[in-house]
Amino acid sequence: MKRSVGFLFALLLVSLGLLAVGRAWTGQVVGDAVRGGRIYDNWILALDRAAPADSHPLWSTQDTNRNSGAVTWLCTECHGWDYKGAEGAYGQFSSHYTGFKGVMGMVGASQQEVLIWFNGTGNISHDFTAFFDAEDVMDLVAFLRTRQVDTDLMIDAFTGRSLGDPEQGRSLYVSGCEGCHGNQGTLINFGNEAQPLYLADMTVVDPWRSVHKIRFGTPLDLRMPAAEELGWSLSRVADVLAYAQTLERGNPTLRPFNPVSSGGIVVESQGRIPPLIWATFIIFLIIAAGVAYDYYQQREQRRSTPKKR
Ligand code: HEC
Ligand code: HEC
Repeated sequence: MKRSVGFLFALLLVSLGLLAVGRAWTGQVVGDAVRGGRIYDNWILALDRAAPADSHPLWSTQDTNRNSGAVTWLCTECHGWDYKGAEGAYGQFSSHYTGFKGVMGMVGASQQEVLIWFNGTGNISHDFTAFFDAEDVMDLVAFLRTRQVDTDLMIDAFTGRSLGDPEQGRSLYVSGCEGCHGNQGTLINFGNEAQPLYLADMTVVDPWRSVHKIRFGTPLDLRMPAAEELGWSLSRVADVLAYAQTLERGNPTLRPFNPVSSGGIVVESQGRIPPLIWATFIIFLIIAAGVAYDYYQQREQRRSTPKKR
């Protein structure tokens, strides 16, 4: 009787162990998440693919964002540079408002749960197989699962101002950015001759976009370093952003286009299935230990009580 219970538990433990290992194995992140970040930024540029002439098939399901053509195919135009879609900087008061949801729900999701959004299974109109190869999708999925962050940790959602320390950011800027962007951020002009836009304009007007570019680089020039590859913390990113916001403006009248609250940090969707399996595993381990100890004690007792003659 005792022996069969022990055997049953051993079997249960082994199978749960295998299940957990299997889960950990399939939970491995494959793909280059930093390249994925640049695909999210602008896949037409990052992958050097031709832009479709017509607007995206889902575009006609909204009528608030008046853009059309190639830009409607970009992940950022529908889901935002802050990954929050209509809940973030592209909210109701933005000219980019579509009402489409963000992609933060993919944080901690399994490979399969994210993959379906690019092969037409999740939504037939959201099928990107004609444009992405398998590697592109892997990289994009890796980005969505593991590198999204809540931009409210770095940027004040009301003012668009960086929450970082410009003094700390100065030395990071001098050593890592000045070579290309110049001492005052005016070496690269993002506008044109008549209406210049410098680094300070870009970082003040759309800090969410800037943070994504600082973390993943720009698809326009792969020489710009990606903070994610340099191993920078988010507070370093915020510091260099804060410093860039103090540099010379080309058009000082431009303000953040949509200072809107995106409401706190959501932690609830982080926990998925693996923790549950581990918890079950641990509970069974504790029960098994209890049974083993009980068995051991009874045996000891039997041994110490003198046998009847
Ligand atoms: C034309 C706008 C548009 C574009 C462009 C677009 N999406 Fe979407 N996306 C949507 C809409 C709308 C949904 C919701 C569809 C549904 O629920 O059936 C969605 C859903 C998703 C989801 C699932 C989100 C969830 O929590 O369920 C992911 C992930 C996603 N998109 C990622 C991307 C990525 C990455 C790109 C760029 C390659 C992209 N999308 C391009 C409009 C767009
Ligand atoms: C090797 C040169 C190089 C270095 C180094 C570099 N950048 Fe850039 N950066 C570029 C180029 C090129 C672009 C794209 C220019 C364009 O869009 O016309 C760019 C774009 C950007 C943008 C995007 C602006 C926008 O909204 O489009 C930001 C923000 C930025 N850089 C910040 C930085 C910061 C901060 C650093 C230092 C950590 C840095 N860059 C280092 C070359 C560089």
